[in-house]
Amino acid sequence: MTFYDEIGGHETFVRLVAVFYREVALDPVLKPMYPEEDLGPAAERLTLFLVQYWGGPTTYGETRGHPRLRMRHMPFHIDPDARDRWLQHMRTAVDEIGLSPLHEATLWDYLERAAYAMVNTFEPSGIGPAAAGRPTLETRSGQE
Ligand code: HEM
Repeated sequence: MTFYDEIGGHETFVRLVAVFYREVALDPVLKPMYPEEDLGPAAERLTLFLVQYWGGPTTYGETRGHPRLRMRHMPFHIDPDARDRWLQHMRTAVDEIGLSPLHEATLWDYLERAAYAMVNTFEPSGIGPAAAGRPTLETRSGQE
């Protein structure tokens, strides 16, 4: 029995991520970061990642490869404000899906640590990675 099974499998992660992106869609700082206007594909990627992380099917890895999450987030300006907004929406989502206290604490502990690890700038927006068309860490090699 994995954590994935214990909390209700795929359907529970779908509900979690649906609430999360419902909130992201209303967030004036986070929403503009998403390259696609439609948040559906991003929701699908996050769902499959979390499913895999917690012991469910490995569809994420089969379609996206190694997560390399820090690297994949480098193009985005993730300062403490963005992190706190991300966590606030996750908090709403975790509360809405109604897990047992132990499951909730386990999931939250992970999400909080992961979000802190994703911070890649302490500069105000406009100065950090990918700001105002500047090259990102991913696109910079050979150009400077
Ligand atoms: C701390 C604040 C965070 C911000 C502002 C943020 C923002 C973003 C953005 C803008 C994308 C691109 C959307 C897409 O095309 O998929 C993305 C992708 C993704 N994020 Fe985050 N993220 C944050 C934290 C996290 C955390 C903590 C996790 C994991 C627990 C995570 C997991 C993912 C995954 C799995 C993808 C898709 C990666 C791929 O396969 O391309 N993110 N995120």
